[in-house]
Amino acid sequence: MRKSLLTLMVLAASVSSAGLAQTAMAATGEVHLEEQEWGFDDFFTGTYDRAALQRGYKVYREVCAACHSMKRIAFRHLADFGYSEAQIKNIASEYSIEDGPNEDGDMFDRSGRPSDYFPSPYPNENAAKAANGVAPPDLSLIIKARHDGANYVYGLLAGYEEPPEGKELAVGQYWNKVMPGHVIAMAAPLSDGMIAYEDETPETVDQYSRDIVEFLAWAAEPEMERRKRWGINVLIFLAAFAGLMYCVKKKIWKPVY
Ligand code: HEC
Repeated sequence: MRKSLLTLMVLAASVSSAGLAQTAMAATGEVHLEEQEWGFDDFFTGTYDRAALQRGYKVYREVCAACHSMKRIAFRHLADFGYSEAQIKNIASEYSIEDGPNEDGDMFDRSGRPSDYFPSPYPNENAAKAANGVAPPDLSLIIKARHDGANYVYGLLAGYEEPPEGKELAVGQYWNKVMPGHVIAMAAPLSDGMIAYEDETPETVDQYSRDIVEFLAWAAEPEMERRKRWGINVLIFLAAFAGLMYCVKKKIWKPVY
């Protein structure tokens, strides 16, 4: 009797959670995201691909940065990509950063330094909204802010389609199969060949999308590699410690047996 009651409760719980999942799906427009292979996804040993990070940063700098800020990233953080201090200084110096106020109380522009954070394309949220209809979100944490973020952003960039028959879009609106509700205020930002890569990497929307996702995944969790390394070290330590304790226990209890 008790057992069947328990079964019933488990059943009821799973049915209601399945229902919840379904309503969540409906709320997001029942978008099915295609799973992509991401090197950084591997639970224990995932790492970022340095070359992809460098390319992804290029995509951000040359395309996305025209509209999207990344306020949490500083130039010095690019050391994670294998850049030397001199290279980072050089990259930062290509940017113009607003500083101040000076002695006269005025703001002024100077060239960037490694300790500066990425400058934003708009002075404030209202300016960003006025220029785009909807304010483009800051991309620093976007991979964490969206469910299944890496697959979502990858799918979003390739998800532009003609709207279905009978759907009217206003000026500045586009149809995207992955965007919840499908209507998005961002035109497809990428096209084949628009960014020049220095090596043989294909200059396609697909490759640009993979690289920008790698870069955004890193931005959302730069400490991921360290965290995983620590996790493994802790597991190894615990295993060795358990082994040691087992031997100690054997030795201590030996006279009793
Ligand atoms: C011309 C301006 C512009 C450019 C360039 C641009 N975006 Fe956007 N982006 C927007 C706007 C505007 C929105 C808000 C859309 C909305 O909420 O309808 C947006 C939204 C987004 C979103 C959030 C979608 C969501 O789920 O809410 C992501 C992710 C994104 N952009 C990524 C990118 C990436 C990556 C690039 C570079 C490859 C890029 N964008 C380039 C204007 C731009």
